[in-house]
Amino acid sequence: MDHDVLSSLRSSKFSPSTTFLPVSPSPLSSSILFRFLVYGVLVLSLFSRHVISASFDVSSIPFEEGYSHLFGEGNLVRSDDDYSVKLLLDRFTGAGFISSSMYQHGFFSAKIKLPGNYTAGIVVAFYTSNGDVFEKNHDELDIEFLGNVQGKKWRFQTNVYGNGSTSRGREERYTMWFDPTREFHRYSILWTATNIIFYVDDVPIREIIRNEEMGGDYPAKPMALYATIWDASSWATAGGKYKVNYLYAPFVAEFKDLVLEGCPVESASPLGSIASSCYENGLELESRDFSTITYESRVAMRQFRQRHMYYSYCYDTVRYPFSLPECVMVQSEKERFKDTGRLKFGGSHKRRSRRRGRAPIRVEMGRSDEPQQPYEGL
Ligand SMILES: *[C@@H]1O[C@H](CO)[C@@H](O)[C@H](O)[C@H]1NC(C)=O
Ligand SMILES: *[C@@H]1O[C@H](CO)[C@@H](O)[C@H](O)[C@H]1NC(C)=O
Repeated sequence: MDHDVLSSLRSSKFSPSTTFLPVSPSPLSSSILFRFLVYGVLVLSLFSRHVISASFDVSSIPFEEGYSHLFGEGNLVRSDDDYSVKLLLDRFTGAGFISSSMYQHGFFSAKIKLPGNYTAGIVVAFYTSNGDVFEKNHDELDIEFLGNVQGKKWRFQTNVYGNGSTSRGREERYTMWFDPTREFHRYSILWTATNIIFYVDDVPIREIIRNEEMGGDYPAKPMALYATIWDASSWATAGGKYKVNYLYAPFVAEFKDLVLEGCPVESASPLGSIASSCYENGLELESRDFSTITYESRVAMRQFRQRHMYYSYCYDTVRYPFSLPECVMVQSEKERFKDTGRLKFGGSHKRRSRRRGRAPIRVEMGRSDEPQQPYEGL
């Protein structure tokens, strides 16, 4: 039910059509009453506390300009105009692409349409990482879509790793308030020297403010952007209960309106020189519209987290007896979670402890110290 509340809130208050209602000429426009109504609605919506910018002020680039094919021979299909790309998973392989440069801070964004029908066991990941350069102490910021059984709400998670903190994934899991297979939606990761924000469309769903006590856990080294689709049957959907069914293959994830904003660096540069050469760029990044959460967006973020977050590491005192330094406890959120970080109602006690099979380039995390995957409770 809460899901409908947010979607109706979004469609009535957040959509560009409400905010920027076009006043098109029509036979009725001569009516003073009609004009009065139209301007009334405009004025009301402009002054409504919930009006936020319809979209970010960003420009998209063609694939060729910023990205390269990563893996999956034949399963990456670029459009003729090169502004969109499809990643396919079939019984032979998944597929992925990577940004051609690494970036010291940045805004990484794409409009994504997920594969429809039966997609259990499939993970579509949009993330930044430097795991291929720093094998032992890599940084990573993830948005991972966790496959779905038709008719259920889609689920996804965000993770944060810094300097090889693989035992502290800082995972959060959420349900979607819309069907991500029907239309494209924008998903974004902002990473600056002071904060990290994950966005779904223009709603910030999670912010991490850099805290000295996080130390190396806050990602600090240049990262590349990755987008992948792969078979994660062992854990993705309901903790591995539902596997990929290749009768429905190929599974197609579509990406378009790709955005890469940040400071591109040579991965080999020493870190000190990167920091100084990217200083100006960093200030510029922090002044952009996506770097600051307005009061209105913060309200939307709080509502999203209150209604759609179903696992949070901050409330998981079983795994983290001492809560991590950046955690801000929200009483109304805390009341919803057990000390496992899972929801008090509607969960199951079944757990998974193994996780495998990320994209080939990713650091293998199948070690005993790896984080437990929270149970899906589909
Ligand atoms: C779902 O399956 C039906 C029947 O096989 C097919 O016609 C339709 O295109 C599929 N939808 C998507 C989004 O893949
Ligand atoms: C990151 O990890 C490396 C290797 O484990 C260590 O030498 C370094 O001090 C760490 N950096 C920070 C900022 O914690």
